[in-house]
Amino acid sequence: MNVEHVIDSLNAARARELAVIIQYMEHHYVAAGLEGMPSFLRQSRGDIWVGSRGSGLSARLAGAPGPVVMLKSIAKVEMLHAQSFGNRVTALGGTPTVTPSERCKASTVREMLELDVAAEDEAVSLYEESLDLCRREGDDVSGALFESILRDERAHLDAFGDLLSAL
Ligand SMILES: [Fe+2]
Ligand SMILES: [Fe+2]
Repeated sequence: MNVEHVIDSLNAARARELAVIIQYMEHHYVAAGLEGMPSFLRQSRGDIWVGSRGSGLSARLAGAPGPVVMLKSIAKVEMLHAQSFGNRVTALGGTPTVTPSERCKASTVREMLELDVAAEDEAVSLYEESLDLCRREGDDVSGALFESILRDERAHLDAFGDLLSAL
């Protein structure tokens, strides 16, 4: 097993987890601010936030948590992912990165959710590649970690996709 390759893939994953923690928490606070605004102010920003109290909520989202709650709870899951990747890097004798990967800024709610969908889509692609790498390198433990986190990222992709399509 080329342990350096596995450590690099774990740290690449950890860097993007650190970035989305910041991204989703930032979007959580923006969304929380918008939810507290009167609707005419929200519309004047060129975007209408659809939340648990919004009138345009699709039937598919009925009963689901609104974006404010969802963004914060998904950010917490990403923290656990960052921690798990860091723990595995340490177990392999590496140093967990503390540098988040680059992220983009959004100016509207639609752009925020588009970024969130793109981030999860990127995670799914990256972790599928990482899982293949772990299998080639014969590292079943890291492979199982990527497999388990992939399930979460696919659920996040669906959740953000539903919110975006309800806008
Ligand atoms: Fe994650
Ligand atoms: Fe995620």
